[in-house]
Amino acid sequence: MAASDKVFAGSIPKFYDTLMVPLIFEAYAANMAELVAVSSPDSVLETAAGSGVVTRALAQRLKPDARYVVSDLNQPMLDYAAARQGVDSRIEWRQADALDLPFGAASFDVVCCQFGAMFFPNRVAGYAEARRVLKPGGHFVFSVWDRIEENAFADEVTNAVATVFPHDPPRFLARTPHGYHDIALIRDELNRAGFTDIKIETREEVSRAASARDAATAYCQGTPLRNEIEARDASLLQLATDRATEAIASRHGKGPVAGKIQAHVIVAVR
Ligand SMILES: C[S@@+](CC[C@H](N)C(=O)[O-])C[C@H]1O[C@@H](n2cnc3c(N)ncnc32)[C@H](O)[C@@H]1O
Repeated sequence: MAASDKVFAGSIPKFYDTLMVPLIFEAYAANMAELVAVSSPDSVLETAAGSGVVTRALAQRLKPDARYVVSDLNQPMLDYAAARQGVDSRIEWRQADALDLPFGAASFDVVCCQFGAMFFPNRVAGYAEARRVLKPGGHFVFSVWDRIEENAFADEVTNAVATVFPHDPPRFLARTPHGYHDIALIRDELNRAGFTDIKIETREEVSRAASARDAATAYCQGTPLRNEIEARDASLLQLATDRATEAIASRHGKGPVAGKIQAHVIVAVR
């Protein structure tokens, strides 16, 4: 993983929350909130919470006296999430690396993490850390994207942006968000972290945007793909977004667009 892959800062949080979240994260957040809330947990830790799409879906489903700690590595994402959430005395916002959690052993009934594990530099260590802070019988609920070919817009954007930088194509989307999809590997890494009771479901959803430009702008400007493009030549960010727009419009039309997205949703019991 490149160092810039985990940097969600600057203008990324705003573009991420306003364009990426409705495009691909909201549909999965509703399902994750359901999976977490079903056991009526007293205490929940969310890691890699980003701009808070799961937090918004889950807070309304938790008990009035539940403890809900919401964390992320990047403080700007957490600030954005907290500002959108409003006052909720059950929620504690905490900057934290999922591989080095500032909590004691057996502190939570559930640890949840939507589309964060792909960013962990060491997945086994990240899973072991989730397991350490879980109470016996607690649930670790998380999701990762399936391969990029199963995720239409991400694939089309990656190919289109490559035409702007043919000698050094930015591969963030394929390398990181869509680079950890092998179910056998996920099971093996969970096993190595101490989990044995593991269920994995592959879920297909539909990604929708008002226009090809909105979808292209989301990927090119609201994710660390932006960091990669700007590192090559910041003046080409608009051209890269235009090429991605044309690629999506040519396959999905000039009006509102819809494309397949697919992810793995995992529940592991401590
Ligand atoms: C694709 S976003 C997912 C955010 C959110 N869960 C959602 O569904 O919209 C990935 C998030 O992982 C965070 N992240 C990256 N590395 C992390 C780490 N080691 N520990 C905690 N969070 C991390 C990033 O800051 C970013 O907010």
